Amino acid sequence: MLDLRTTEKDMIATHIKEGDTVVDFTMGNGHDTLWLSKRVGESGKVYAFDIQEAALVSTRGLLEKEGAPNNYELICASHHRVEEFVEGPIAAGMFNLGYLPGSDKTVTTLHETTLLAIDAAVRLLSPGGGLLIAVYPGHAEGALEGQLITEKFAAYDRKQICVSQLKIVNSPTSPFFFLVEKR
Ligand SMILES: C[S@@+](CC[C@H](N)C(=O)[O-])C[C@H]1O[C@@H](n2cnc3c(N)ncnc32)[C@H](O)[C@@H]1O
Repeated sequence: MLDLRTTEKDMIATHIKEGDTVVDFTMGNGHDTLWLSKRVGESGKVYAFDIQEAALVSTRGLLEKEGAPNNYELICASHHRVEEFVEGPIAAGMFNLGYLPGSDKTVTTLHETTLLAIDAAVRLLSPGGGLLIAVYPGHAEGALEGQLITEKFAAYDRKQICVSQLKIVNSPTSPFFFLVEKR
């Protein structure tokens, strides 16, 4: 059976190589930040965003414990402000939407800022770059985010940006994924 965590990384991995600049738009406990940091290596750069100071503390702890390269910048700000902190272009970006499992469910990504952040991420993306967006439709705001993101991507010109979706059709509350690729 499909392992969603592995598949998610496989979808974006081909867009990331050593030395690249990448963004983790939803840092959380830092698992994706760590993966990105190791993938781009000492010569690369990872910018990671979260609105919770606790996420930065947790992520910094994980990166230090795991001996991540010294190539990351942890930023306590909403991801829709990415262009204030990241000059770009970026090779890749990851969004793991929703709330941190086991923490305050009211601190979740919200469609208003998520859609703005996706617009900014697409603007920053280099030609050949990719964005991975994981949507969690098992809660009301997640379902709405998924619907609005789908509508946004459906309107993109496919000659410039190709958007693929991976979804388990007989498990409607399972996470699903978009891969956004700039030509
Ligand atoms: C599902 S978790 C991310 C999991 C994370 N990628 C990991 O590897 O542990 C979603 C995170 O998004 C954060 N978040 C919510 N709204 C945000 C916003 N506007 N900008 C940046 N992060 C936000 C939440 O605080 C939460 O930590």
